[in-house]
Amino acid sequence: MPEEKDKANQQSNRGFTRRESFVKLGLGSLASAGVGVAVSGYEFLSPNVLYEPSPITDVGKADQYPQGSVTADPKAGIYIIHGPEGFYSLSAVCTHLGCLTTWAPELGKSGLIACPCHGSKFDLEGTKVDGPAPRPLPWFRMWISDEGNLMVDRSTTVPARQYLRT
Ligand code: FES
Repeated sequence: MPEEKDKANQQSNRGFTRRESFVKLGLGSLASAGVGVAVSGYEFLSPNVLYEPSPITDVGKADQYPQGSVTADPKAGIYIIHGPEGFYSLSAVCTHLGCLTTWAPELGKSGLIACPCHGSKFDLEGTKVDGPAPRPLPWFRMWISDEGNLMVDRSTTVPARQYLRT
């Protein structure tokens, strides 16, 4: 008789162990499903935005740009030009297919802005003089900050020959 009782207990223990392992397996599945729902819910609720750098660039003090200078800022994609009429900023991005232009002082009478991609060339006021570019280089708004620095807003164009006088 005790042997039968032991056998029943063993079966009962085995059944309980199996049940317990199913419960643990179920809880594990629920937990991993919960984590999946939480992660996808967070991704769904977080804003899907592209963080871009500000279009406003501080290009420093005016006295670092001597009269007649053409200064490229390739990182910002602009030129700071100190002409006889004052300061102005041109886009350095070619209006053909968007290549970054370079200042070539050896070209033309007083230098040209040249595009390395398809050969467009622009004079110092951004007017196209050669190549396939369909439009002149745009002029960007410039002003002087409260700290006395030259500022350029690459998101705002102004009519050509709108100079900043300091
Ligand atoms: S991108 Fe400048 S000429 Fe084509």
